[in-house]
Amino acid sequence: MKHSVLMRRAAAAMIGGVLFLAAPATALAQTITVNKTPWCGCCMKWVEHLRENGFEVEIKETENLTPVRQALGVPLELTSCHTGEVEGYAIEGHVPADEIHRLLKERPDATGISVPGMPAGSPGMEMGDRKDQYDVVIFSDESDAIYATYVGSDKVNLAAAD
Ligand code: CU
Ligand code: CU
Repeated sequence: MKHSVLMRRAAAAMIGGVLFLAAPATALAQTITVNKTPWCGCCMKWVEHLRENGFEVEIKETENLTPVRQALGVPLELTSCHTGEVEGYAIEGHVPADEIHRLLKERPDATGISVPGMPAGSPGMEMGDRKDQYDVVIFSDESDAIYATYVGSDKVNLAAAD
């Protein structure tokens, strides 16, 4: 009897231990690979934004992003200054981290998301009071659509604003 109680306690402790180990594993940060040119400063500021918002970032420096974009399927008209990749999705330009978290949660059938150009006030493009309105575009081979709209770091709901 005594023996089986001990065994049960040991088993309970094991389960506790396993649960304890499992918790941090599920919270493991997702890694975004960021392809950038060596001379890009706003790229590094965007990388900081990603790290502050829970992503691991691996930086790959390259002097020519065109082949990277072609490999990841980023259309020419949606290009910006850096090209990221996370779990098979392309992340082009100064995309707010919240939208990347959303993308990885919703997992739409898409090639990736982009903030084309370099809008003032987007993450990594902070310019004091200058805050452009800009779209986060979701794209695939055949089509693209607006995934979200922002002014600076604030998401705006255009439908609700009307
Ligand atoms: Cu930039
Ligand atoms: Cu950049």
